[in-house]
Amino acid sequence: MFTIIAAIGKNNELGKNNELIFHLKEDMKFFREKTDGHKIVMGHKTWDSLPGKLKNRENIVISRHDFPGPDRIIHDFNQFIDEYKDSDEEIFVIGGGTVYHQFLPYAKTLYLTEVKKTDSSATTFFPEFDKSDYKKEIIKKGSEDDLSYTFAKYTKI
Ligand SMILES: NC(=O)c1ccc[n+]([C@@H]2O[C@H](COP(=O)([O-])OP(=O)(O)OC[C@H]3O[C@@H](n4cnc5c(N)ncnc54)[C@H](OP(=O)(O)O)[C@@H]3O)[C@@H](O)[C@H]2O)c1
Repeated sequence: MFTIIAAIGKNNELGKNNELIFHLKEDMKFFREKTDGHKIVMGHKTWDSLPGKLKNRENIVISRHDFPGPDRIIHDFNQFIDEYKDSDEEIFVIGGGTVYHQFLPYAKTLYLTEVKKTDSSATTFFPEFDKSDYKKEIIKKGSEDDLSYTFAKYTKI
């Protein structure tokens, strides 16, 4: 089963110039706790934006190319979906925009950190989705460095 985890702005902003927009300590902690010990799947650009492998997680990267570093590289998206869509194992989809877009139809759960801010210079966005298809639970609300945020969990109905 696939679970999406992302931090998004008011207009679904995800990133700019291959970097994150929002840097919230609480969000990083939440991300670490949720994904710890699991498989994480990401696009090549997100991989490139990281300082290296995220420890204690199996780092899986989607790309048409081969390169050193990740635990596994997927070339065939559909084959990967077939491999895990009926599995009980929770696999975390950690971005970026192109990868969220492709996995969204298969994800049962979305953990979205909804940041109450816009950024007109964003270059990557989380895909639009129909919220009426999901049950929404608020996990926590908070603020940090003048940024208010909500940790929300969306579960497909
Ligand atoms: N706010 C958040 O929670 C969050 C989380 C993660 C990332 N981000 C941000 O998102 C941005 C990166 O996202 P992005 O959308 O530009 O790029 P991305 O989704 O991370 O990576 C795109 C790349 O992944 C590969 N790929 C994607 N689908 C594929 C498929 N079906 N088959 C083969 N390869 C595939 C391709 O790599 P090749 O060209 O190698 O084939 C493609 O160029 C950055 O700014 C990052 O900081 C934000």
